[in-house]
Amino acid sequence: MSELLRIERIAKSFGGLQALSGVSLSAMRGEVLGLIGPNGAGKTTLFNLIMGLFRPDEGRICFKEREITGWPTHRVVRAGIARVYQLAQACRSKSVFENVELSLLTDRIFAWQPGSRCRARTLAVCAQVGLSDVLHRTPQMLPQARLRQLELARAVATDPDLLLLDEPFAGLTATEVGALSEVIAALRAGGMAIVLVDHNMRGLMRLVDRVVVINFGRVLAEGLPQEILSSRLVQEAYLSGTASSGPDVL
Ligand SMILES: Nc1ncnc2c1ncn2[C@@H]1O[C@H](COP(=O)(O)OP(=O)(O)OP(=O)(O)O)[C@@H](O)[C@H]1O
Ligand SMILES: [Mg+2]
Repeated sequence: MSELLRIERIAKSFGGLQALSGVSLSAMRGEVLGLIGPNGAGKTTLFNLIMGLFRPDEGRICFKEREITGWPTHRVVRAGIARVYQLAQACRSKSVFENVELSLLTDRIFAWQPGSRCRARTLAVCAQVGLSDVLHRTPQMLPQARLRQLELARAVATDPDLLLLDEPFAGLTATEVGALSEVIAALRAGGMAIVLVDHNMRGLMRLVDRVVVINFGRVLAEGLPQEILSSRLVQEAYLSGTASSGPDVL
C-alpha cells in the first residue's frame, strides 16, 4: 500500500493551549485508519488543519506527495479530500437529491455540464450511501441516522480519494451503526481511503486496518486494532481523569 496522506510533526496551539504537538502519522491508499483518543485529545483539530480551516504553527501536511499545508478548503477538496462534519450542514429547504446534486456541482466537470450526467451521478451517490428511498424528502423529515447518511453522500459527491469521518456513529443505535459501517466498508472496497474518528470502539475496531491513538495532542500509540485494544498505555489514557467519556470496550 502506498502513502496517501502524510502528517509531519504538526503543532497547533490556541492561545496558551497546545492542542497538537509533534504529531506525525500517515494514511495509506485504500485503508481505513482509526484515530482515537480521549475528549480534547486533538482529533478534530487535526481534521481542521488538514481541511485548511486553520494553519498549523509547525509541520507539514502532504497529500499524494504534494504539500498542501495551509491550502484553502476548496483547494483541499479539489485535491481529493472530503470531510464529514459532526453536525448536519445540509440545506434544510432542499431535498436529499438537491443537496447531493449541489455538492456535486462544486466539482468542475459537473459545474460545466449540469444535466443528465449530473443527475445520474447524483442518483448513484445516493444509492451508494443508501438514500435512494428518501430522495425527495427534506432534511427536516429525516431521522438522525438518515441525516448522517446525507452528510456522507455530500462528501462522497466530491469524489474524494480520502474521506475524513468525525464521530459518524455518535447517537446512533447498534443497528444503525451496523448499517453505516456497511456503507463505509463498501466505500473502502471501492478504493477510498478513510480516517475514522469515533468513541464507539466496537463500531470503529470492526472497520479499521490500523489505529493511531492521540492523547494530550501527541501520538501515544499506533498499531493493529487488537494491539491497541490490549495496550495498557491506551487503557490508562482513557481511564485517567482527563477523559470524560471512555470508549465502550476498554
Ligand atoms: N477553535 C478553537 N479555539 C480554541 N480552542 C480550541 C479550538 N478548537 C479546539 N480547541 C481546543 O483544542 C483541544 C483539542 O480539541 P479537539 O476538538 O481537537 O479534541 P477532540 O480530540 O476532537 O475531542 P472530542 O473527542 O471531544 O471531539 C481542546 O482542548 C479544545 O478545547
Ligand atoms: Mg472532536
